[in-house]
Amino acid sequence: MKIVSIITQKGGAGKTTIATALAVAAQKDGLNTAILDLDDQATSCFWGDIRTSQDHSPALAVKDVKAVRLPHVLDALKTAGCDLAILDCPAIHRDVAMDAATPSDFVLIPTRADVFDIRSMRQTVDLMKSIDKPCAVVLNFCPPAGREMGDAREGIKGIGVELCPVEMHHRKAYSRAQQLGQTAQESEPSSLAAQEIIGLYTNTLKQLKEGETHGELTASRA
Ligand SMILES: Nc1ncnc2c1ncn2[C@@H]1O[C@H](COP(=O)(O)OP(=O)(O)OP(=O)(O)O)[C@@H](O)[C@H]1O
Ligand SMILES: [Mg+2]
Repeated sequence: MKIVSIITQKGGAGKTTIATALAVAAQKDGLNTAILDLDDQATSCFWGDIRTSQDHSPALAVKDVKAVRLPHVLDALKTAGCDLAILDCPAIHRDVAMDAATPSDFVLIPTRADVFDIRSMRQTVDLMKSIDKPCAVVLNFCPPAGREMGDAREGIKGIGVELCPVEMHHRKAYSRAQQLGQTAQESEPSSLAAQEIIGLYTNTLKQLKEGETHGELTASRA
């Protein structure tokens, strides 16, 4: 089983949007996937409740988990044949971020392209570096044009962390889908948001496969 955490210090950066979108993409791709919601706001869980009540397919396991029970829950998921666990983390909580990152194979760190967001995100990057955790920053809420994007890419390069080649733009399809218990690739499959999510999923799979020695992710899908 692979574990991907979505972590960033800043609130509202897109953690839950990315966690749910990656989970749906993985489940559609044949990976048995679960979302573990470590945030007391339980947004992923509420999203999952709507999804279940509306009978959207594929069905997804979304569990709220306290950080202290995470190792136990991850063991149980592994035993149950889960291929991919996606951990949706709360903003600010450094301890929870550490608890989630430690067992993870890869960490995605979303941020807006603004100076203060990047400054705040840097704390998360430093935390990942302190445990030598493979991670990448993904720019979210990107504007269609303007010098902010170039500045943001430069700023991230300066921090010395990998930048995800897929950038997510500010698009209504993301929030519309979330309110329906869906993701953009389901509710608006021909949208640019849907393309971004597929790109982000493909890139995340690539990162996971680069970290493997025996092709475990592919093998467990057979
Ligand atoms: N690229 C985007 N374009 C437009 N809206 C977006 C985008 N990404 C996320 N959103 C919306 O922004 C809001 C915040 O996103 P989300 O809940 O994913 O952030 P979060 O980091 O999980 O927040 P929190 O720190 O509170 O858990 C949601 O309404 C979501 O639908
Ligand atoms: Mg959230």
